[in-house]
Amino acid sequence: MCGIVGYAGNRPAVPVLIESLKKLEYRGYDSAGITVLEDKLETFKAVGKIVNLEAEIPEKLDGVVGIGHTRWATHGRPSTQNAHPHNSGGPARLSLVHNGIIENYMVLKEELEREGYVFKSETDTEVIVHLLHRELFGGPSCSGECKQEFLPALRQAMGIIKGSYAIAAVYPEEPGKLFVARKDSPLVIGVGCGENFAASDVTAFLGHTKDVIYVNDYETAVLSPDEVRVFGKDGEILDKTVEKVEWDIEAAEKAGYEHFMLKEIHEQVSSINNTLAGKILELEGDIELEGLPLSEEEIRTLSKIQILACGTSWHAGLLGKYLFEQLAGIHADVEVCSEYRYRNPVVEGKTLAIAITQSGETADTLAAIRSLNAYNCRTMAITNVVGSTITRETDGVIYTRAGPEIGVASTKAFTAQLIVLYLLAVKFALIRGKLEQDTAKNFIKGIKKIPGQVQQVLSQKDAIKECAESFSGAKSYFFLGRHLNFPIALEGALKLKEISYIHAEGFAAGELKHGPIALLEEGTPVVAIATKGQTYEKILSNIKEVKARDATVIAVADTDDTEIEKYVDVVLRVPSADELLSPILSCVVLQLLAYYTALALGRSIDKPRNLAKSVTVE
Ligand code: M6R
Repeated sequence: MCGIVGYAGNRPAVPVLIESLKKLEYRGYDSAGITVLEDKLETFKAVGKIVNLEAEIPEKLDGVVGIGHTRWATHGRPSTQNAHPHNSGGPARLSLVHNGIIENYMVLKEELEREGYVFKSETDTEVIVHLLHRELFGGPSCSGECKQEFLPALRQAMGIIKGSYAIAAVYPEEPGKLFVARKDSPLVIGVGCGENFAASDVTAFLGHTKDVIYVNDYETAVLSPDEVRVFGKDGEILDKTVEKVEWDIEAAEKAGYEHFMLKEIHEQVSSINNTLAGKILELEGDIELEGLPLSEEEIRTLSKIQILACGTSWHAGLLGKYLFEQLAGIHADVEVCSEYRYRNPVVEGKTLAIAITQSGETADTLAAIRSLNAYNCRTMAITNVVGSTITRETDGVIYTRAGPEIGVASTKAFTAQLIVLYLLAVKFALIRGKLEQDTAKNFIKGIKKIPGQVQQVLSQKDAIKECAESFSGAKSYFFLGRHLNFPIALEGALKLKEISYIHAEGFAAGELKHGPIALLEEGTPVVAIATKGQTYEKILSNIKEVKARDATVIAVADTDDTEIEKYVDVVLRVPSADELLSPILSCVVLQLLAYYTALALGRSIDKPRNLAKSVTVE
C-alpha cells in the first residue's frame, strides 16, 4: 500500500515527483503530498488524488531534490494531517515519506510524547520522524545543533522500529541528497544521467531510466545527482549490480484507451503470447520452464503441491489445483495466505509450495511463504514483477511476463498466471508419465490458439457491453460455474464487485441448492458459465433451477452451441476450445462484463474506492 518516490537531480523536482506519483497512484489514492528542498523544506499535501495535490503547489519551485507519497490509509483516516510527507520541527528540519507499517509505534509514540515530542498526525510514520529528530538533535528542541550525519541516525532509528518500511527522506543540513531505507516494503532506485530516482515501483521513473538497483531489507542508500551509494545493515558500503528493466514506458501508458483496465484486457492477446514465448516446444510436444526449483527426479517423486495466493491470484491457484490433479496426478491444495500464515500446517512428504502473486509484494503471501521456512519444503513463485520481494524469498521463480499491470483490478496478470499453471501442469504430467507426448502436442496446439481466440472474444465486446448496460441497475449478481469454471465464476464476481460496487457472489453451481438459491429473486442476473465439457449437462440443470425461480440467466457458451438459447435470456459467446482451456476465454468475457457495467455506472474503474493494487500490509 502507498507509493513513495524520491528525486535527486539537476532540474526542478516538482514535475518529476508529480509524474512519478501519478504512475504510483494505483498503490493508493486517499491523499498525496510532496516535499521539495529549496533553501528550506517546502511541503504540500492534499486529500484524494494527485490532481488535488497539483492544485496546491505554487508554480515557482526550483528545488532539485524532493520526495513524494500517495497514500492508502492504514493508521489514521485520509486527511491532510495524516498525508505524507511528515516533518519534524517547526520550521521543518527533516521530511520523510513511508510505505509500510510500524508495529511498535504506540509504545514509541508514548515514549516520545513523554520526552516532549508533539505529534501532528495519527500515523505510525510520525514516530520515525521524531526518532530521527532525536538521533540527529538529541531532543525535541527545534533549534538544536545537529549531532551527527543523517545516515547513521537513520540506521539507529531502524534499529528501534519494528515492522515494514520503505522510507525516503530529505534533510536540509545535507542538501542535494536523498536518503532511502527498506525493510519488507518494495524499494527500487533508478540510476539516471546526472539524476537519480527512488520509488516503490519502477513504473514511477520508467520514462527517465531503465537502469535500476533493487534495495534489499535493512539496506540504506544516499542518492545525489551524480552518485548512488548503497549501504548494508551495519553501514558497510555495498557493490550493487545495476540491472536493466525490460518494460518500456509505453507499456505503462494508456495508449488511447479510456482506462488501463480496458487496455490491459485487450493486451491479453499479446501478453499471453509473451507468457508463452520460449516455453513451448511444439514439435516435440514438450514444455521448457526456467526457474523450476526441482529436478525431474524430484518432480517424479513429489507428493503434494501447496498453492498460496490472495484475491485474483488465489482464483488462478484454484484452477491450478484442478490442473495439477487432473493432468499430473499430484495432490494439490490451495489456500488464501491470510489464513495459511496463522495455521500450523502439516507439511509431510515432498511438498512444493507455489506462491502466485502478480506484484510479488503481497504481505500475506510473503508471510505464508516465510512460514514454510520451518519445514523442509521447496518453494517457488509465479510472479509478474522482476526483482520483487517474492523472487528473493523462494527457491525458484517463473515470470508471467504480462507487462506492467496498472489497473487495480487484475486482468492480464490473471490470464498469464493461468497460462503458467497450464504449462507447469503439462510439464509435471509429462515428467511423471501421466500424459502421452501426442496428447501433450494437441494440448500445446490448443494453448497456442488462445491468443487468437481471446481476440475473437474481444471482437464481441459490443454484445457484452449491451448486456452489461441492461443489467447495470441490478443490486446483486450471481456467477455460477462447475469444475474448472468454478474459479472463473469466483473471479467474475470479484471483478464485478471491485469495480462496479454491485454485490456479486460466485458459486460452484452444484452448491446453489444447498443455500444460496434462497437469495434468488425475480430478475436477479445470474451468469452461468456453460461452455461444453464434462459438466455441461449439469450446468444446464442448474440453469433450469435458476430459471424456475424467475431469475434472469446470462450464459457464457460456445459459439457452436445452438441448444443453450432455449434455456437462457442472454448468450455471450466464446470460441469452442478444449474444456481445460476454455475457462481463459470465459474469463475475458467476464472481465469485459465487469468493465462495461462499471463504465455504465460511472465508477472509478482503474482506482476503485478503498482498494490498492499491492496489498503490502496485513
Ligand atoms: O499482487 P498479488 O497478485 O499478490 O495481489 C493479490 C490480490 O491483492 C489481487 O489479486 C486483488 O485481489 C486484485 N485487486 C483483484 O483484481
